[in-house]
Amino acid sequence: MDLAKALDERFSCRGFLDKPVSLDQVRALVVQAQKVPSWGNTQPWRLYAVGGAKAEAVRENLVTAMQAGRQQVPDITMPASFEGELMDRYRDLGRALFKLLDIKREDHNKRAEHYAKNFNAFGAPCLLFITVPRGQTSYVVLDAGAFVSALCLAATDQGLATCVLAALARYPDEVRKVVPIPNEEAILIGVALGYPDPEAPANRFRSERLDLERVLTSFDL
Ligand SMILES: Cc1cc2nc3c(=O)[nH]c(=O)nc-3n(C[C@H](O)[C@H](O)[C@H](O)COP(=O)(O)O)c2cc1C
Repeated sequence: MDLAKALDERFSCRGFLDKPVSLDQVRALVVQAQKVPSWGNTQPWRLYAVGGAKAEAVRENLVTAMQAGRQQVPDITMPASFEGELMDRYRDLGRALFKLLDIKREDHNKRAEHYAKNFNAFGAPCLLFITVPRGQTSYVVLDAGAFVSALCLAATDQGLATCVLAALARYPDEVRKVVPIPNEEAILIGVALGYPDPEAPANRFRSERLDLERVLTSFDL
């Protein structure tokens, strides 16, 4: 698959088949994702890949914590909400996804059910946790972000699907109960990895993008 096709075909998968991903597959993705640039080649990212019973245990811990209404204490501050046009787009995304899933605004049960699915990583058989060292500048997050993007594209290239999930990083202590991630590292984000379920309605969803004119300003070109 060429890069343009992978960029085109990658999407946030919200329904996975119960089909495992092997360590060899994950290793191949990481080797590719590691090619991204980083400040001074510092390569601040680390990746913890969790499958099988351990992935199940993490997903269960997270769903339980969420459903108990436990306070979320992520290692890295997360946005409580967004401002201005960012908030508009954030809302638009939720509305469009819920419309496709036929989840009505007033249907609190269905909304809660969908929210819980986030913490269950939409049933993904493999969970990836990406960390950065604590006490550095925001640029380690830039570098790790590039790594995560490349990882998702490499997965698409391999016929796998991903969903970058803040939900996986909202209760880092629950993750650490199962996965020994050192405290000197901050869990930046999680990624659900697996084979996409073609029957899952949520996988028909595709998000929109801004017009080029809104994004690009050029001079003397
Ligand atoms: C940092 C980050 C956190 C995200 N967290 C979630 C999440 O918790 N739940 C979810 O369903 N999608 C999550 N996403 C996926 C975004 O909603 C998705 O990338 C965006 O809507 C664009 O759609 P696309 O990935 O299908 O192109 C997250 C994406 C990023 C980059």
